[in-house]
Amino acid sequence: MTKEKMQPKVQTIWWEESPEPTICMLDQSLLPHQVVYLRHTHEQQVADAIKALKVRGAPVIGITAAFGIALAFSRLFRVQAESLSTTDIQKHLVTVCELFCHTRPTAVNLFAAVEHMQHCAKTVLREQGSLQYLAQKLYHEAQSMADEDFDACLKMGAYGVDLIADGDILLTHCNAGTLATVGWGTGLAPIYAAHRAGKRIHIFVDETRPVLQGARLTAWELQQEGIPLTLITDNMAGHFMRHGGIKAVFVGADRITCNGDVANKIGTYSLAVLAHAHHIPFYVVAPRSTIDLSLPSGEHIPIEQRDPREVTFIHDQHIAPVGVKAANPAFDVTPHMYVSAIITDMGIARPPYSTTLHSLYKANKSVKM
Ligand code: MRU
Repeated sequence: MTKEKMQPKVQTIWWEESPEPTICMLDQSLLPHQVVYLRHTHEQQVADAIKALKVRGAPVIGITAAFGIALAFSRLFRVQAESLSTTDIQKHLVTVCELFCHTRPTAVNLFAAVEHMQHCAKTVLREQGSLQYLAQKLYHEAQSMADEDFDACLKMGAYGVDLIADGDILLTHCNAGTLATVGWGTGLAPIYAAHRAGKRIHIFVDETRPVLQGARLTAWELQQEGIPLTLITDNMAGHFMRHGGIKAVFVGADRITCNGDVANKIGTYSLAVLAHAHHIPFYVVAPRSTIDLSLPSGEHIPIEQRDPREVTFIHDQHIAPVGVKAANPAFDVTPHMYVSAIITDMGIARPPYSTTLHSLYKANKSVKM
């Protein structure tokens, strides 16, 4: 099948050049009831959209930040092309990179993307490239990161599909699908590949409190693609592992450390322990941009603490006593001992991850995606 034919029905984010450089994105906070596309022409709007979960999911957060940085320089070129010194441009670079680094702390994709864009910009400035050239270069870098993500999703799907048999019932958590990437997702990539290959599968989808990415997003996108699913509340997972015939769990990741510890949406850890207790394979699917070899273990991963209102409210409805204290860590860390395999765009790593993740990198070092 050609790349064009492999496009998912849902497009998460893209760039439009005219009438002025614009980042278009699906507002995920309104799904599934409203399908609204936002058009942002200022980097601050893009950073705010990341914070407010209008665009979310580790890979696409990184790509959005990259496009946001490109937008910041396209905008600068349009409004002030003549009057800026290299020092002014360098200051703008620092400000814009900081803006994106302060949006969400857990997904390493964001920091890798910002670092990459910063590096490109510094190279252009060192070589005394014009502001116009810098803006174009940054746009092309962001677009090629998006293209790489698309390809990575296909590769993760191709590696993971063999872990799924015809007739399997699978479980997933949060949203690790097309909405979290510019392609076919991470945790859902093998599921989409299995579906395309004609395997009859059924997906149990955790609703994923507090923000309901499972109920609102995963259920919606699987439905768009015609994949049969059953939505469950998070606390039903153990019951269905015991009685529902679940054959494997597939999730994404926000950051994976050297030893194979995995940060992902809150509740992933409990699922992994449950899967272990029921002898059900627990698969983590993530592109190389989610692997952080600079951290030895999951204890070092910064966990985003979000507004407790996400717990005490569902939409605008207050569901707890007024004034009650609520905790809201957005992610947890699953220790590597509960992870059966990590499916990446470079291949599949199995324990011991401290060796196998490095080996995958080594084997793929010269391979540009
Ligand atoms: O808070 P979110 O919605 O950005 O959290 C998303 C997740 O935890 C996903 O599972 C993770 O980013 C992997 S998705 C490709």
